[in-house]
Amino acid sequence: MTDLAQSMTEVAAMIDRKLDQLLPAGEVPERRLFDAMRYAVLAGGKRLRPFLVVTTANLFNVSEESALRVASSIEILHTYTLIHDDLPAMDNDNLRRGLPTCHRMFDEATAILAGDALLTKSFEILAHPDTHSNPAVRAELVLEIARAVGANGTVGGQMIDLLAATEKMSMDIASITRLQKLKTGRLISCSCEAGAILGKAPRPLRSHLLAYAHDLGLAFQIRDDLLDREGNINEMGKAVRKDDSHGKATFVSLLGIERAHAQATMLVSQAIAHLDVFDSEADLLRQVARFVVERRY
Ligand code: IPE
Ligand code: IPE
Ligand code: MG
Ligand code: MG
Ligand code: MG
Repeated sequence: MTDLAQSMTEVAAMIDRKLDQLLPAGEVPERRLFDAMRYAVLAGGKRLRPFLVVTTANLFNVSEESALRVASSIEILHTYTLIHDDLPAMDNDNLRRGLPTCHRMFDEATAILAGDALLTKSFEILAHPDTHSNPAVRAELVLEIARAVGANGTVGGQMIDLLAATEKMSMDIASITRLQKLKTGRLISCSCEAGAILGKAPRPLRSHLLAYAHDLGLAFQIRDDLLDREGNINEMGKAVRKDDSHGKATFVSLLGIERAHAQATMLVSQAIAHLDVFDSEADLLRQVARFVVERRY
């Protein structure tokens, strides 16, 4: 196993244990809600965002408990975005992480509620004193992450994604770049930034990490779009070849496979170049950037 594969597997196992602790089930009348939340979160996935939080936090000697709590909170948030993204009113998907989507396994109303509850749970974890002893650090995390996933981030990006498909809004490279930055990039950027916030990283280093994460986030969504075109349902654990039929505006729809791939590769080289200020301690971040454009899932 490569260093990266081993490290990603180890972080994923730690995150799974932490997520299990943070999302107890309990014998309550509303148990169905907790079951749906646990079902979606514990179904696995690459755990890329938690990996970025933990790996960035390790650059600044952050305690394991703080890093794992923030990483779990971001994974919980990400899972909420997936549950809602799969709903019939949005992408109408039946398979996620190799299992029936939350609304298929439970029902639409339960899936909406599970998403709502995961979103709020995520901020509850961030704001909890166990996440960091300094309230100012917790407030900064809440502020940055809230900015990243709200109307000026993920949710805004999802709105453009739908408008571009249903109203055939004409999209050029600049508007697709903005769409992808909002829809996917901001949360990935936040995952790196969170490690730096926890570690009170000096501003210049934080800027380099943000520049890295910015390019990585764009490359990540381009790869997702390429895999929709060329990927395999069994490896991906989700349906493929859907973006075209739904009229989604992506780099692939605009540039074609070759040029979209070249764009993602260029972004990843650029991302890695932003890490030049770090020595070998940032090697895992360099490796994970290459993984993002080479991945099959
Ligand atoms: C899928 O994200 C949604 C996008 C932003 C493209 P991931 O590819 O990280 O999904 P999981 O977490 O591994 O299932
Ligand atoms: C979704 O993008 C990004 C989110 C904010 C969840 P996609 O719709 O392309 O993600 P997949 O392909 O369904 O995972
Ligand atoms: Mg979508
Ligand atoms: Mg989707
Ligand atoms: Mg996709």
